[in-house]
Amino acid sequence: MPSKTTNSNGTVLITGGSKRIGRTIALHLAHYGYSIALHYHYSRKDAEALARIIQTLQVRCDIFEADLEDAKAVASLIQQVRKKFPDLQSLINNASIFEKSTLRAGDIKDFDQEFAINLRAPFILCSQFASLSKEGTIINILDTNVSKDKGGHFSYLLAKKSLADLTRLAALELAPEIRVNAIAPGLILPPESQGKEYLDRLAKNIPLKRKGEPTDIAKAVQFLLENTYITGQTIFVDGGEHLK
Ligand SMILES: NC(=O)c1ccc[n+]([C@@H]2O[C@H](COP(=O)([O-])OP(=O)(O)OC[C@H]3O[C@@H](n4cnc5c(N)ncnc54)[C@H](OP(=O)(O)O)[C@@H]3O)[C@@H](O)[C@H]2O)c1
Repeated sequence: MPSKTTNSNGTVLITGGSKRIGRTIALHLAHYGYSIALHYHYSRKDAEALARIIQTLQVRCDIFEADLEDAKAVASLIQQVRKKFPDLQSLINNASIFEKSTLRAGDIKDFDQEFAINLRAPFILCSQFASLSKEGTIINILDTNVSKDKGGHFSYLLAKKSLADLTRLAALELAPEIRVNAIAPGLILPPESQGKEYLDRLAKNIPLKRKGEPTDIAKAVQFLLENTYITGQTIFVDGGEHLK
């Protein structure tokens, strides 16, 4: 981790920021002087522990609870954050669920949940952010598989593909005040039910032959936040997986 710099870059709201990739993004940006509005749902203890770590860096971090499946709770999140952080500058739609599903099984409950959390919540947050902010940056976290039509997680992938389209549509509508970009991670962290060897096995089939690290995603986030001439772009941080 780099040593902390003192510049203040405004506040970044990170959804699902208490664990795993979201946690690494929050810590990385805090080291570079961004204040952190950390959203969580169930992981309150992890969120509190991370906020304490970030505060020891002399960086501001407050935590915000919301169930992203609940449209009303999502709609009030940006307002709550702005009350505490009037300098809210960026939104990172990172929270997600990742469930197996097929079209044949036709599980409507799963479809609704995937779309509520992985697409409707980012839609509402982007909309609220745009109506309450004069300028800023939005980053949506996708999945390398948005470039393919791979089966097995039908509703998840359909929602992430739609989020990729939302990114481009939003970039056009919200320019020039707000830039909207996306990051498509590949093999970074295994699902909680699997060990590291699961990704090592899959990594044998991708061009760079290894899994990535959460910091690879965090560095791409920082790049998109700071390069002010990029909008409507998706960066694949996936060891070349999208090429195959
Ligand atoms: N892991 C990978 O290798 C990989 C690969 C491709 C794409 N991605 C994408 O990268 C992002 C981060 O991945 P990850 O594996 O770190 O994510 P994750 O652990 O699966 O989920 C991140 C957070 O999402 C939050 N979340 C889930 N349901 C929610 C709800 N109803 N309301 C509010 N928050 C909710 C959870 O917060 P709480 O714990 O607080 O409840 C969870 O900690 C995701 O968008 C994912 O699709 C990851």
